[in-house]
Amino acid sequence: MLKGSPERELKEFLKAVRLEFEGEGQVLYELGRKRGVVDSESKLAPAPIVECRDLVKRFDSFAAVDGISVTVNQGESFGFLGPNGAGKTSTMRMISCMSPASEGYLRVLGQDPETHGPEIRSRLGLVPQEDTLELELSLLDNLLIYGRYFDLPKKEILQRADRLLDFAQLTDRKHDKVDLLSGGMRRRLTIARALISEPDLLILDEPTTGLDPQARHLLWDRLYRLKSDGVTLIITTHYMDEAEQLCDRLVVMDHGHIVAEGAPRQLIEDHSTPEVLELRFGNVGHEEYSAGFEDLAERIEVLPDRLLLYVHDGDEVLSAVHSRGHTPERSLVRRSTLEDVFLVLTGRTLVD
Ligand SMILES: Nc1ncnc2c1ncn2[C@@H]1O[C@H](COP(=O)(O)OP(=O)(O)O)[C@@H](O)[C@H]1O
Ligand SMILES: [Mg+2]
Repeated sequence: MLKGSPERELKEFLKAVRLEFEGEGQVLYELGRKRGVVDSESKLAPAPIVECRDLVKRFDSFAAVDGISVTVNQGESFGFLGPNGAGKTSTMRMISCMSPASEGYLRVLGQDPETHGPEIRSRLGLVPQEDTLELELSLLDNLLIYGRYFDLPKKEILQRADRLLDFAQLTDRKHDKVDLLSGGMRRRLTIARALISEPDLLILDEPTTGLDPQARHLLWDRLYRLKSDGVTLIITTHYMDEAEQLCDRLVVMDHGHIVAEGAPRQLIEDHSTPEVLELRFGNVGHEEYSAGFEDLAERIEVLPDRLLLYVHDGDEVLSAVHSRGHTPERSLVRRSTLEDVFLVLTGRTLVD
């Protein structure tokens, strides 16, 4: 045993063990904190919730995920934003220990999915891209069955189910068959189901794809509450407004690669201008107009139905366009968004 005060001994011990078992950092941190020997100055910071480096997922010779490095920290709401086929679901399946990584380093909740899959899965809440609810059963029975997977006592599940159905605003549908629910209600039930085990990390793969705007806003509100309660969230989406609303930090994915990483506002600041002037000119080729406006904008994108002028002051540039004798059929001044960031980085739009 090490010499010195008990406190010092424990500190030394933690340091030594941590070096040996880096992935167990979270456990040691908690242990140290309880004993009052780990403070905010300590180097024993909590381990990341998810850490991957050069992670690859291959299907035969095709790399769906082609060497991504990401760290998600405790309490963060972290996004994977990218179009269809970017590799978001493949990444979520590796993180949730449903499909093995082909290459690279991956730790989830401090553990290796290859050797600790069941342990990790027992601490995750999953909202898969496609709902996997039992349509013929009631909402309550869906929650009961799911709770049983986690070996929770029935009484406990019933209590949690009541709370979660209330959270999902589905209490009055408790005994209805899932079959009768709308798409938005099913998504909220899937989230309630994922929360039954009180997970340390909630993974949501395209939580609002295919929902109407009202259903999306209701779901965002629920996710926002979870985020405010400090639940660590990983969300994939191809909706830039969803990513902007819900994510503290995100990566932009395309063709299995990460093309940018940061807080939404920061990404916009780094890669775009404050404002965008959108112009639409009848049936005339937008390409031709584009050449005439080059000196007015930092950058111009020509889309099939409109021109995007990346500028600092949209109204000022619109006046300049008018004073050159051009009258666009439609004009719109708006703030830059993550959609613009994606366009700058890839030359394509997020939703095709
Ligand atoms: N099981 C699989 N076998 C072969 N190719 C796959 C499989 N799953 C996904 N892919 C391919 O990997 C790429 C990424 O898919 P996916 O991870 O589902 O992307 P996203 O969720 O961003 O839409 C796509 O080109 C898809 O066709
Ligand atoms: Mg997907």
